[in-house]
Amino acid sequence: MAVVGAGPAGLLLSHLLTAAGVDCVVVEARSRAYVEARLRAGILEQPTVDLLRAAGVGERLDAQGLRHDGIHLQWPGERHRIDFPALTGRSVWVYGQTEVVKDLVAARLAAGAPLHFEVSDVAVHDVGTTSPRVSFTDAGGTARRLDADVVVGADGFHGICRPSIPAALARTWERGYPFAWLGVLAEVPPSTDELIYAWHPDGFALHSMRSPSISRLYVQVDATERIEDWPDERIWEALQTRLGLPGWTLGTGPVLEKSITGMRSFVSSPMRHGRLFLVGDAAHIVPPTGAKGLNLAVADVAVLAEALLEFFSSGSQTLLDGYEQRALDRVWRATHFSWWMTSMLHTSGDGFDARLQLAQLQQVVSSTAAATVLAENYTGLPHALVGGPR
Ligand code: FAD
Ligand code: DHB
Repeated sequence: MAVVGAGPAGLLLSHLLTAAGVDCVVVEARSRAYVEARLRAGILEQPTVDLLRAAGVGERLDAQGLRHDGIHLQWPGERHRIDFPALTGRSVWVYGQTEVVKDLVAARLAAGAPLHFEVSDVAVHDVGTTSPRVSFTDAGGTARRLDADVVVGADGFHGICRPSIPAALARTWERGYPFAWLGVLAEVPPSTDELIYAWHPDGFALHSMRSPSISRLYVQVDATERIEDWPDERIWEALQTRLGLPGWTLGTGPVLEKSITGMRSFVSSPMRHGRLFLVGDAAHIVPPTGAKGLNLAVADVAVLAEALLEFFSSGSQTLLDGYEQRALDRVWRATHFSWWMTSMLHTSGDGFDARLQLAQLQQVVSSTAAATVLAENYTGLPHALVGGPR
């Protein structure tokens, strides 16, 4: 099997298949240092953690990850806690995507399994036949070719696998948003025990963290903003205003990294073309507000790994034939949740929208039914429960 992309999806899928004895080669355009340092998601939902543990890569997660049993939802003058275990029996973990990637790379290298970094000219061929191929140039400049039974496109939104599906067969659904997140990683202990999602007339703000000594914070900015126009003092001021509550102060510290990330919803179908299967961001993107992107990539992998294991052990394609439908059911659930969280928390400047958002927030914090819907989605429905029976 050939896997294009060593992000969380490609690394986890190849880990699961290699552990079951399937020959599997991973090719990655970037260097090991780059993929291990790429700052992205920070929240793992319960089914993601369960899968990482079951796959034997949960040791450092259990030692260093922070289990969180809730989040705070806030608007001016009010902060309310949503209690996840009480509503769903599940929790989430603060454990950076960088750490997940490091754990999976380490496991793969320790197993002596093939993982080629810094490859170029990657192309997939003959995916409509039973002998597809991947060609690439390795880090040393040698042209290589992988003959496989199956090719997996885990190469993210800008990868080459999705565009290799004939345009006439593809369909996409997309929603852009007029705002973006300005994120900072700061060397300061978090000023909160659990994440704070804050609605404010100036715009959304989020207080997250990476460890007991590192905070991760975001503010909503206009999609056209440039990072040069946001000196550190301006960011801290916006965060203090939007996250502020009487009697509560935001701790500040040296900014280690800052950047602006655009937001979009995007779903592409088919997720399978012949012997090519797409997983994770290669097939779909969600805005970050519900912390679903990484978790959705892992959920795709859970479904595809089971189907591939059946295929490689018995030759049966029954589960492979059902992959797209099972994966898409969860993709659309997460797409709706991420859109809903984004719509509830980001301000547009329109007064009517603002009143609707506050009414929605009030309902979420005062109705057990509404809070449960948020908690179920945020902590992640068990993989087996989305996408129908196995
Ligand atoms: P990726 O992580 O994108 O991995 C794809 C891999 O393929 C990469 O290593 C890439 O280098 C490689 N690749 C690409 N093209 C090729 C090629 N031609 N040949 C070989 N390799 C190739 N989600 C959240 O839940 N919370 C967040 O805060 C959050 N922040 C984000 C910030 C940014 C800037 C981005 C881009 C995403 C963010 N996400 C966030 C989303 C989350 O990080 C992704 O959903 C997750 O990384 C998906 O994993 P993946 O393995 O499918 O794709
Ligand atoms: C983080 C990112 C998110 O998108 C989110 O909803 C919560 C936390 C983070 O990077 O820590």
